[in-house]
Amino acid sequence: MRLSVIGCGYLGAVHAAAMASIGHDVVGIDVDTRKIESLSKGEAPFFEPGLQEILAAGIESGRLRFTTEMAAAKDASVHFIGVGTPQQAGGYAADMTYVNAAVDGLLPYLDDGDIVAGKSTVPVGTAAGLAPRVEATGATLVWNPEFLREGWAVQDTVDPDRLVAGVPSGTAGERAADILREVYHPAVGKGTPFIVTDLATAELVKVAANAFLATKISFINAMAEIAEVTGADVTQLAEAIGHDARIGRRFLGAGIGFGGGCLPKDIRAFSARAEELGRGESVAFLREIDAINLRRRDRAVELVVEALAGTVFKKNITVLGAAFKPHSDDIRDSPALDVAVKLHGLGAHVAVTDPEAIANAQRVHPQLTYVEDRDEALRAADAIIVVTEWDEYRRELSPEHAATLTAGRIVVDGRNCLDAAAWRAAGWTYYGMGRP
Ligand code: UDX
Repeated sequence: MRLSVIGCGYLGAVHAAAMASIGHDVVGIDVDTRKIESLSKGEAPFFEPGLQEILAAGIESGRLRFTTEMAAAKDASVHFIGVGTPQQAGGYAADMTYVNAAVDGLLPYLDDGDIVAGKSTVPVGTAAGLAPRVEATGATLVWNPEFLREGWAVQDTVDPDRLVAGVPSGTAGERAADILREVYHPAVGKGTPFIVTDLATAELVKVAANAFLATKISFINAMAEIAEVTGADVTQLAEAIGHDARIGRRFLGAGIGFGGGCLPKDIRAFSARAEELGRGESVAFLREIDAINLRRRDRAVELVVEALAGTVFKKNITVLGAAFKPHSDDIRDSPALDVAVKLHGLGAHVAVTDPEAIANAQRVHPQLTYVEDRDEALRAADAIIVVTEWDEYRRELSPEHAATLTAGRIVVDGRNCLDAAAWRAAGWTYYGMGRP
């Protein structure tokens, strides 16, 4: 099939390359010339495992190309909208400028019977607002939310847990759902649940899923706060409650909390939208989820201060991690960098290291010191804090080896990812999050 993907950021670039990898003919369109140049050369503009390979293979095969010209969408019959919906400057609501611009820019190139499939995460009601403009061209607007996780984006796109298609009622909607089934034929063929809903439900599925995930993380972090004043261990608590299949162990990792380009902004946009709809109280708890999440960053800083006998001023602190999570170079709303910035603000000499995210971090927080080499970063540290659970720190850094490099023997485990007993046995004072 001939597809266009409007917006070649994280979502769009992965989607375009993944669709080409399953045999479609794809054109990716974006206004960012540098991004398009890089993608056209088969080079991923950000770090995402597996993307480079499918991108290069797609370009090589001739089935994948990128351009800044919206007119290139003319040849396609299914058009995916994958532009960003960032948090509005000075507010909680989503900024819909890019979605509106993408749809308006596409309108002149739509043919009768085309499908426009929104993938961006949008406030519920967006599709209903856009539909008349799209339908006036004879095309059908559907909402097909994307659930990809960074670090697993290619796999999540090609082989998702489920596919959701929000379609209008009637034959146009049924036809659109059939076309989407055809687009995702390998996943549909192997029995991946394909859930057809109305437009509003599809939009809500996405924000509800992210709100639930954020709630799960903040729930366990709230338990960590209680554990801290009672001497309980939140990691054992998570293990014990996680064995209940109704609860499940995943996303019960207590630590410095969630960040990234999705969960924080999506729960805020959801709150803002619910308030607009006069149902703010229904999701008022999301404000609390956000607050708990942000408190954990302060708690991590507090632990470092406590460990260094009340002050970090002029102390050497090594911050292991900058990305918001491992297998990513994304530093958007990164709890890791927030902790580093806060320690720096308290007068500490902070050395930040990360296997992938230093270049991005440097651009946004040039005031911090960055060290590429992990061991170099550890040298002469009075304390170290793990803030992104990369294998380089979690598995590959032995406490004995670390001790040969640092000045002090204080380790704060902001992700509860280290073997506390092993670090203690090697002479370190270990501090976890929500652990005695
Ligand atoms: C998320 C959703 O998982 C995905 O479905 C959606 O499409 C986009 O948002 P992503 O932002 O890539 O994906 O990251 P995710 O793996 O969900 O992690 C989000 C944050 O939560 C990270 O900062 C991570 O470190 C943190 N986290 C995750 C925890 O603090 N504890 C956990 O137990 C799990």
